[in-house]
Amino acid sequence: MTKDEKNPQIKLSTIVCKRYITVQLLGKGGYGIVYEVMRLNNPTARFACKTELATLRNNLKIEWDLMTVMSEKKSKHTIIAYEMGQERNYNYIIMNLIGPSLADLRKTMASKKFTLYTTSVVAIQASDSIQELHFAGYIHRDVKPSNFAIGLLGTEAEKILYILDFGICRKLYKSGKTLRKPRARVPFRGTTQYCSPNVHLRLEPGRQDDYWSLLYMLIELHTGDLPWEKMNKDDAKKSKDSKTDELLEKCPAEFKFLRNYVRTLSYQMEPDYEKIRGILCQLMRVNDFKPDKPLDWQKNAENCKSMRKKVDEKVEKLEDLLNLPANPATKKYTDEDFPDVEGEPLHDASTSKSDDTIVEIAAPTKKVEVVKQPKEAVVVKPKEVVKPVAKVAVTSPQVGASPAGQSGQAPKGQAPKVPLKKHINLRKWFSKKK
Ligand SMILES: Nc1ncnc2c1ncn2[C@@H]1O[C@H](COP(=O)(O)OP(=O)(O)OP(=O)(O)O)[C@@H](O)[C@H]1O
Ligand SMILES: [Mg+2]
Repeated sequence: MTKDEKNPQIKLSTIVCKRYITVQLLGKGGYGIVYEVMRLNNPTARFACKTELATLRNNLKIEWDLMTVMSEKKSKHTIIAYEMGQERNYNYIIMNLIGPSLADLRKTMASKKFTLYTTSVVAIQASDSIQELHFAGYIHRDVKPSNFAIGLLGTEAEKILYILDFGICRKLYKSGKTLRKPRARVPFRGTTQYCSPNVHLRLEPGRQDDYWSLLYMLIELHTGDLPWEKMNKDDAKKSKDSKTDELLEKCPAEFKFLRNYVRTLSYQMEPDYEKIRGILCQLMRVNDFKPDKPLDWQKNAENCKSMRKKVDEKVEKLEDLLNLPANPATKKYTDEDFPDVEGEPLHDASTSKSDDTIVEIAAPTKKVEVVKQPKEAVVVKPKEVVKPVAKVAVTSPQVGASPAGQSGQAPKGQAPKVPLKKHINLRKWFSKKK
């Protein structure tokens, strides 16, 4: 494979999907590049475009499917995706443009950490988003600060947390509610810094492992770092085993309750989501936090200036979004509820004996090849005028938005919504390749 074939052939000022032009790099991961794109016939309409090299392993198809499912389920924490397709040597998804990731936001803080109030608000929303995904029948497998982002800065949505990156999500159920049988040994999938002890041991990841990762993420947001940040997998595992207790001493008791509870869960066991929510909401209650205070990035607007876009949107109040228990008699968790039981995490008898996402490949069964390149991507110079292309869209009733770019008007808030569209040919192409 030549160097060019290894990267999506896309850069700034590239036309994608005939109607958008890339204007800014938003993020670069192990397997894809995310750009901010502008609609050619409406420069105020901005979207995000995630691209990946078109090979046989198409993570973007999984992402597209899941984003569609989640938007049908009216998820509060998932971005809406509008179009998916393939051009030149890459696949792409066009989706709502949102704001910076938690990883980027933390770095703008002078202390490199969030206040406990902000961490608590993040914790509840991140946990809710994980629960939504589990209820849709998937586990995320890559929970980390760069896979959560807030709504556009400068809008009401800057208080909302969105979960990103469904590329390595895994289906939990075979049919109906029958859990898939855990595999004996699993190739490493995830990120060394945030993955659970189970994942280090190459055991089948389950719902509880998303919460382990959430725990490490919260420790980092609260303390400013994780001691195993730059370590290789083996050293990171040792450090997680030996240093987590020490780290939890620097954190509120609720973090320890979460760890102690998650440690009692196995692959087969359904987490008690209400209990987890209860622990995280307790962070707000015992510290007398009311969800009416500005979050760190709202307070430090100056630091986040370069990430801010001037738009305005009316969205749900933070108070409604967090839905904290109102009853003063709500049970207060103490150490007695979550005793500290030492040792390796729980394994089911049926399982194995044994800040870039890593996808370890098992011994290959099929030769991975680069697909035929159907069309040249068009690159235009800034002054060139490009006519919008007529389109036939399959409208999703759930999205319920007006077609962007037709009125030429800038909508309030996030980038304007367009009808959900599928590029039928590409979907056929995906299924034929399988
Ligand atoms: N819709 C979006 N709007 C704005 N920024 C986004 C959007 N989607 C992704 N990003 C930015 O791009 C970054 C990378 O996105 P994502 O995690 O989806 O890609 P990835 O290639 O799978 O990354 P990695 O391999 O590092 O996990 C995110 O951390 C976020 O900052
Ligand atoms: Mg990512």
